[in-house]
Amino acid sequence: MSDDIANLRKFVAPEIVFGAGARKTVANFARSFGARKILLVSDPGVQAAGWVTEVAQDLQMGGFEYELFTDVSPNPRSEEVMKGAQLYTQHGCNLIVAVGGGSPMDCAKGIGIVATHNRHILEFEGVDTIEMAIPPLIFIPTTAGTSADVSQFAIINDQQERMKISIVSKAVVPDVSLIDPETTVTMDPFLTACTGVDALVHAIEAFVSTGSGPLTDMHALDAIRLVNDNLVALVKDPTDLKLREQVMLGSMKAGLAFSNAILGAVHAMSHSLGGFLDLPHGMCNAMLLEHVIGFNFKSAEDKFRVVAETMGIDTRGMNNLMVHKRLQDRVIQLKRDVGLVEGLASRGVNLSDIPELSAKAIKDPCILTNPRRSSKRDVEVVYEEAL
Ligand SMILES: [Fe+2]
Repeated sequence: MSDDIANLRKFVAPEIVFGAGARKTVANFARSFGARKILLVSDPGVQAAGWVTEVAQDLQMGGFEYELFTDVSPNPRSEEVMKGAQLYTQHGCNLIVAVGGGSPMDCAKGIGIVATHNRHILEFEGVDTIEMAIPPLIFIPTTAGTSADVSQFAIINDQQERMKISIVSKAVVPDVSLIDPETTVTMDPFLTACTGVDALVHAIEAFVSTGSGPLTDMHALDAIRLVNDNLVALVKDPTDLKLREQVMLGSMKAGLAFSNAILGAVHAMSHSLGGFLDLPHGMCNAMLLEHVIGFNFKSAEDKFRVVAETMGIDTRGMNNLMVHKRLQDRVIQLKRDVGLVEGLASRGVNLSDIPELSAKAIKDPCILTNPRRSSKRDVEVVYEEAL
């Protein structure tokens, strides 16, 4: 590829409705896609919070039949995708609505892929592996962080191999994302912290990614600012709707940025970790963030200076070494303020696990856009620092 073409950038996004009450437009959108029967995908936690019943009622009032599928784990498993796809086909569905966090949304993407291609979901690992258009997807996120509702990523857990696979394709960008901050009030402070830090990591990784550009940078920087300015206050007062809205806006912008600029070593390493230990994704990212910044800093010094400034650090008069240190300190402080202080060892990772974790991480597509090229040994050293 010539340099001119390699430097071109594209930007893919769903149709987005943002704001309190956005979820209530679901039946209108289902109608505009000619829905006949809908597969409604969620998980038991979101169902218990009451959001599934509400969306189901709205669909019924709109005159739609639906089939409910809530058999989705916190890290969605390949078998769950296959089961959901079977249900989709068996009931003659022609549209998927997902309500929930990243897990039901990623599972819904997988269901759409399998229902169209009639092959196992694990065969679609990698970039641009999807050949046919998948059914219309309408997503209603109930967390503010994963951004599966705007992204071209689906992350599925392969239980047998104890790893997560990444599927990256514009085919899995939902058609419609109904982003409604009211749905996030049912998140507890821990989940709010995990998903908020995930959004911050999305924004930082997208900004320093080798796939970044003007179409994504503005969203990435806005997201860093919104999460940095509002997340700590939100974790202290999870009922504040204004703060919910600001963090959700930050999450959405981070999602638009990373979906198009892709991510980096934090996500490559955290996918490997999350598959290995079945830990919350945002927590895995949090345990790795400052260590990956340390590894990457020299390869993107000017960009990390902008990240530092966007996180409120006055870098005037500082050399790069000082900016590096202050940025890492700021990240550690923010994590501490939202209660994410653990290292890998406290979650059961041993030194002897690191070679296997690293071997999987360097195969993850997210490593390809990391600003610094990373060998298996490099990744091992970062895991060791994060123990
Ligand atoms: Fe993430």
